Amino acid sequence: MFIGTDRLTHTYMPGTPYAKKALDNVSFEIKQGGFALVIGRSGSGKSTLIQHLNGLLKPTSGRVFFDGHDLGQKGNELLKIRRKIGLVFQMPEELFFSETIFDEIAFAPRNLGLEETEVQTRVIEALEEVGMEAEQFIDRHPFQLSAGQKRMVALAAVLSLRPEVLILDEPTAGLDHSGQKILFKLLASLNKKKNMTFIICTHHLDQVAALADQVLVLQEGRLVMDGFPQKIFGRRSQLIKMGLSPPVTAEIMADLAERGLDVRSDIFNLEDARAEINRLRRHRVK
Ligand SMILES: Nc1ncnc2c1ncn2[C@@H]1O[C@H](COP(=O)(O)OP(=O)(O)O)[C@@H](O)[C@H]1O
Ligand SMILES: [Mg+2]
Repeated sequence: MFIGTDRLTHTYMPGTPYAKKALDNVSFEIKQGGFALVIGRSGSGKSTLIQHLNGLLKPTSGRVFFDGHDLGQKGNELLKIRRKIGLVFQMPEELFFSETIFDEIAFAPRNLGLEETEVQTRVIEALEEVGMEAEQFIDRHPFQLSAGQKRMVALAAVLSLRPEVLILDEPTAGLDHSGQKILFKLLASLNKKKNMTFIICTHHLDQVAALADQVLVLQEGRLVMDGFPQKIFGRRSQLIKMGLSPPVTAEIMADLAERGLDVRSDIFNLEDARAEINRLRRHRVK
């Protein structure tokens, strides 16, 4: 198993009147280089799950695995493992605390005890990875940036650790459409070029569904679906019943099918939808 859980259960404030079982017996596996989406209504346990995946939370029962290690193991192994699993929180820029973009990104590599020259290399590399020219940005105050740029700096701050797995909690929250597009394009390229594994909680399925090769659906702390996007997004009515919105393209295809057109129902990205509609048009012209 590359990264995943075995019967993971998490109860907040156990033994108190406020006890809340946020995860209930969750087991799954994500392969190296995979791109997994975690979806579910607000309160379904997404954030709790991903905090377990880099060891920030401890299981009430069950286990979390990464690359052959049990994250619950004693000793300082966990710290080593955690470096390889980068976690970008929801609205990460709210946690900025440095005076310059350089220091913000340098924080984690400095914490590793790396030499300052190595830290500098990492900062510049990370900024370039997110498409920001280092020279232009390193001395600026993080708050002088646009929302989209701040998000990129937050991402660079995690990339500076050169993680193997990148976990992002609602990475597009608060970004406009073009900011979302730029971010997802970047994630797709990191996934392809560096074989970095991605685990993303998101509501913006339209842009990200096409990148994914696995979708996990949480409902009240239970993992109710786990599979290829085609399979999961094909279960439109079940998703809608759970209060989730399938990708808009899936809705359009379903709508066309309802009108009696012979279209595929397993489409959830714009390119496939365009191809399918073109196929229909050619068919009609004949
Ligand atoms: N720190 C916490 N203390 C107590 N309950 C929490 C805490 N964090 C989350 N919860 C509860 O656990 C459940 C799952 O929350 P969360 O993992 O944040 O869901 P999601 O990210 O899907 O919105 C919710 O009922 C939430 O209220
Ligand atoms: Mg959440």
